[in-house]
Amino acid sequence: MNEEQRLAGQAPATKEKDYSHYFQSVYTPPSLKDAKKRGKEAISYHDDFEIDEHYSGMGIGRKFYIRTFGCQMNEHDTEVMAGIFVGLGYEPTDTVKDADVILLNTCAIRENAENKVFGELGHLKSLKRERPDLLIGVCGCMSQEESVVKKILKTYDQVDMVFGTHNIHRLPAILREAYLSKEMVVEVWSKEGDIIENLPRVRKGNIKGWVNIMYGCDKFCTYCIVPYTRGKERSRRPEDIILEVRQLAAAGYQEITLLGQNVNAYGKDFENETYRLGDLMDELRKIDIPRIRFTTSHPRDFDDHLIEVLAKGGNLVNHIHLPVQSGSSEILKLMSRKYTREHFLNLVSKIKQAIPNVTLTTDIIVGFPNETEEQFQETISLYNEVGFDMAFTYIYSPREGTPAAKMTDNVPMEVKKDRLQRLNKVVNDFSAAGMKPYQGEIVNVLVEGVSKRNKEVLSGYTEKSKLVNFRAPANVIGKIVQVRITQAKSWSLDGEFIGIKEKEKVML
Ligand code: SAH
Ligand code: SF4
Ligand code: F3S
Repeated sequence: MNEEQRLAGQAPATKEKDYSHYFQSVYTPPSLKDAKKRGKEAISYHDDFEIDEHYSGMGIGRKFYIRTFGCQMNEHDTEVMAGIFVGLGYEPTDTVKDADVILLNTCAIRENAENKVFGELGHLKSLKRERPDLLIGVCGCMSQEESVVKKILKTYDQVDMVFGTHNIHRLPAILREAYLSKEMVVEVWSKEGDIIENLPRVRKGNIKGWVNIMYGCDKFCTYCIVPYTRGKERSRRPEDIILEVRQLAAAGYQEITLLGQNVNAYGKDFENETYRLGDLMDELRKIDIPRIRFTTSHPRDFDDHLIEVLAKGGNLVNHIHLPVQSGSSEILKLMSRKYTREHFLNLVSKIKQAIPNVTLTTDIIVGFPNETEEQFQETISLYNEVGFDMAFTYIYSPREGTPAAKMTDNVPMEVKKDRLQRLNKVVNDFSAAGMKPYQGEIVNVLVEGVSKRNKEVLSGYTEKSKLVNFRAPANVIGKIVQVRITQAKSWSLDGEFIGIKEKEKVML
């Protein structure tokens, strides 16, 4: 094997296995226009992914570093890419300077998310100058945007490869090309691919695990870039999800978060089947794993059967993240959320009735084009009415190529900032008030590790995602323990360790 072949991970005499049956052979930069199209063709599932021997050994003696931006979907994609790197013989590193390959797994949701990535690329320029053999890659949602790829090609020549969200399984081939090519390697598919089941994964930690239940989004909220960067809705088969959750349970994981951009649309793409999220949850709750969550649910498709199943409790946690975005029906219409304020409030009361102890959290956008003060006040009043425990709040950020980006906007930035501040005050007041009732109570805490602030203290989360700090022996890390709350603070709870929680029988 000569040096070039070693670098490329090429075994000399073997022919590369033909994967063309499940890869599209499109090697073009992205197009948002193409990404918008929704085809009718059924999704195929592939169970035969393997790292071709052609590439094996490519990473021996080399280290990789992946920096992840954005949502849990990206975090989980990073776990898959780490699995592929390890499969190729690379070792992980937490230190940028030690890495031979650096990947930025990017997020396009708001302008400031993108600016962070461009800033990071700027920092990496000098590292690349010092070490020309270093490979720098950009992947994730930003890579799916034409304008971003053009900008990288034009001004960021420290980048060696750009690939998108639909072809992370192509990482071995992309790396090989990047080692061989003097040009920037750009491979972004505008159209989503099929579902590839058995991709390797190196999960972050062994306490909480993410499980994809579906990919993509068909909702096309007018402000949102995700349907363009993640493609059409594609659901994994129930049996594959159940198997993965069972395996994680057997490996000792304590908590599973089911992932999808709009998990309530789960199963809508199945042909001739009426299997939905409620059915899936009803099967998953029988698996012996203490906690199961999902994110993110959309108010539109939150059906009665799902509520009925969630009300059975057990390992299905009583915390639901339900983004509302706005309290004004007019703004919701402009956002194309496809529900009204009344529908949302009605849904909330149905949920509260069925699950009396439920905690609701949400996402809100302020300063949508032409939002009036009255419409903003409707958001505040909805917040007060629902009494959310917490919210992620954002100023609207125009995304190129989305319908909202073409709307004229008469709301000045100072007004948007002021609305965000006023909303955050309400959010913070509710969060702080929500902590008070915990004083003196006993809670179940999944212990995740030592506290970031104090190495002598352990910390973990309750079912309702409240952070709890307490002193206990380190061997309870990874277990669910009982803690009596001694002090309820604004953002966290302090408590004293009682003991390990007895395992409850899962109610069938
Ligand atoms: N699929 C999820 C949301 C994913 S994005 C859902 O529909 O609930 C996470 C949050 O980012 C959204 O809920 C929204 O509040 C916010 N967001 C999305 N696009 C945005 C934009 N262009 N400007 C500001 N916030 C945005
Ligand atoms: Fe974006 Fe709306 Fe889809 Fe959520 S449901 S990812 S906000 S388009
Ligand atoms: Fe960002 Fe893509 Fe997630 S745009 S929020 S990383 S789906």
